[in-house]
Amino acid sequence: MNIGIDKIGFAAPSYVLDLADLALARQIDPNKFKIGLLQSEMAVAPITQDIVTLGAQAAAAILSEDDKAAIDMVIVGTESSIDQSKAAAVFIHQLLDIQPFARSIEIKEACYGATAGLSLAKSHIAQFPNSKVLVIASDIAKYGIASGGEPTQGAGAVAMLVSAEPRIMVLNNDNVCQTRDIMDFWRPNYDKYPRVDGKFSTEQYTDCLTTTFDYYVKQTGKSLADFAAMCLHIPFSKQGLKGLQAICQNDEKTLSRLTERFHEAIVYNQVVGNIYTGSIFLSLLSLLENSQTLKAGDSVLFYSYGSGAVCEIFSGTLVEGYHKQLVENRLDQLKERKRLSVAEYEAIFFEEIALDEAGNAIDLPADDCPFALQQVDQHKRIYRKN
Ligand code: COA
Repeated sequence: MNIGIDKIGFAAPSYVLDLADLALARQIDPNKFKIGLLQSEMAVAPITQDIVTLGAQAAAAILSEDDKAAIDMVIVGTESSIDQSKAAAVFIHQLLDIQPFARSIEIKEACYGATAGLSLAKSHIAQFPNSKVLVIASDIAKYGIASGGEPTQGAGAVAMLVSAEPRIMVLNNDNVCQTRDIMDFWRPNYDKYPRVDGKFSTEQYTDCLTTTFDYYVKQTGKSLADFAAMCLHIPFSKQGLKGLQAICQNDEKTLSRLTERFHEAIVYNQVVGNIYTGSIFLSLLSLLENSQTLKAGDSVLFYSYGSGAVCEIFSGTLVEGYHKQLVENRLDQLKERKRLSVAEYEAIFFEEIALDEAGNAIDLPADDCPFALQQVDQHKRIYRKN
């Protein structure tokens, strides 16, 4: 039985910051962001948007009523959780009216969480072929004003419907993982923003990739010649490109072929920024919707990396007619986002929900996105469907 991605959807907040404006405000050469990091814009989430609203919006864009009746598991991968106990998936399950007899959970391991969710979904469908699993990667990346990671921030969610006989991509059974106990990026419970050893994290990203790929080659007998494209975790686009260069080593022909596809695979990431656990799947969406070269039967190699660190290399093969499940004008939709000034972005960055003594907040700003945080009632977050 073939199992894989049947549908894929995406949601970003409606605000965007141009990194040229940020560079000017921080007195940095704009080319450091544009050429040095290969990033041009970043999505900014207002206080009424969080991993629940973004995740629900990404999923609502792809689900039919039949899907909602068949889904019996909702998995949210995230590292920007809104609650230490209750899973974001439970809120999303309710907001989307998914049939009640379902399992809803949240998975955390930095930017790797949703990849673990995808593997869990695959195993579940192998056991229960008639069911469908909704896997959502939803995150808001905030490093801090004027921090090293600031130009790589972003926000958004990718939703994938996993089923038997999928219409986009069959997931192959060739997954290889590596776990390495390191402190390259982490966020203690008492911190608002992550602690990052930036340079170390970039080195670990690449070393985990090359060592895991060597093991993948030994385990599967496959090589880069088997793949038409590669999608990597994209904390910022230049990091992905460096990863690709590292595994291609001195094979210039393969590097040039895969680099062409890589540039198609970062079109959305470059204008959204880092969405942590969703960034590899945003890259997949970008590849599928922007490549004129890919065709059914082509295989894509994936490298998922979550600091801390866990990584996974796996692959998928495109199904006949996959392009019918995609959106043609997504970049135009992204161009409709409201461009913020740096002062507006900074104001949103520091905005916090002001709770009264009883844990209520009722005067939240208006938000006409499909899903929004409406109020907090005795410390309970209440969401609105618009
Ligand atoms: N024009 C063109 N390129 C420029 C430039 C300019 N004026 N100024 C700098 N650059 C280039 C640098 O040469 C460098 O490119 P290279 O790595 O290919 O040599 C790139 O821009 C970044 O410059 P650098 O000085 O390394 O940036 P930084 O010290 O501000 O921090 C990170 C970069 C990645 C460490 C920082 O963004 C960060 O901490 N990010 C968060 C952690 C992360 O995403 N980790 C990834 C693994 S998960």
